Amino acid sequence: MEGESYVFKWNEEEISTFVYGKLMVEETIEGIKLAHRAKLELGRQPKILEAGSGNGCVVILFNRLGFDGIKGVEINNDIVKVLHKKYPEYSFTHGSITNLPPELKNNDVVLSLGVVEHFIDGLDKPIKAMFDATRPGGYALISVPCLNTTRKFKKLYQQIFHKGVAEEKRKYEEKNHMKFKYWPRFLDGDFFEYHLSTKQFRKELEKAGFEVLSHVAGEDELGLREAFNRKNKRKLIWEEPKAIEFFKSRGGGYLLRFAKAFPFFASHFQICICRRPVE
Ligand SMILES: C[S@@+](CC[C@H](N)C(=O)[O-])C[C@H]1O[C@@H](n2cnc3c(N)ncnc32)[C@H](O)[C@@H]1O
Repeated sequence: MEGESYVFKWNEEEISTFVYGKLMVEETIEGIKLAHRAKLELGRQPKILEAGSGNGCVVILFNRLGFDGIKGVEINNDIVKVLHKKYPEYSFTHGSITNLPPELKNNDVVLSLGVVEHFIDGLDKPIKAMFDATRPGGYALISVPCLNTTRKFKKLYQQIFHKGVAEEKRKYEEKNHMKFKYWPRFLDGDFFEYHLSTKQFRKELEKAGFEVLSHVAGEDELGLREAFNRKNKRKLIWEEPKAIEFFKSRGGGYLLRFAKAFPFFASHFQICICRRPVE
């Protein structure tokens, strides 16, 4: 990984699929509710920043829902150039969330959807940057992957038998003379993200100065598929790649109902709605 965080590669052909798919996930639904709340309280369009806007799908969706005060900032300049060309009516800036220009600060709402966990040195710096980007009295929605119950069992198994991530982690730490702050996850190539327990996540947010208003689980389907059907062989819960939708067998449906009854049992994400206190 070069730089302080993992930079995603995006396929511009998939943008419209992602806009549609985002409507179905809890983190965006919570974000839409938060934007409405801010709009009602302020009596005007809220100034919104999407930090780590990726292929632009959230900024596009929010604009289409009438929130035209939203701006995206993204570190991958290639996708930002594509977005400038394809969607000149929307606002995208190339840059890092840890070095925001003054015009992207003082926001009524900050959205950070799956970004701060990609910083290998830990979440302190990017979460503090999200705090600084929120105006006093403003809101932030921050989501990160959850070290859920199924992942905790898997972690324990791997630690006892020196397998999988536990082994990869140990080798990486030895080679680079460092210690991961939380439980890491590596995928092909140099992909990197942290998985945090609910307690660890809240602690990071409170350390930055945020008041946590609510904490919800998200993307149970993705978490269940990862835990019980990783290679998509059992056709229990699987993903239809074009639509980012999950189709379930009857067994998968029961499993999903069980997971929804126990938040953070298998949810891939956890989402915190925070407030920056008024000084
Ligand atoms: C999981 S994606 C989320 C994209 C988008 N928020 C969404 O929900 O569809 C994380 C994004 O954060 C970007 N990113 C990583 N480090 C960043 C940084 N320091 N500043 C801005 N963006 C960053 C990645 O390149 C990637 O596009």
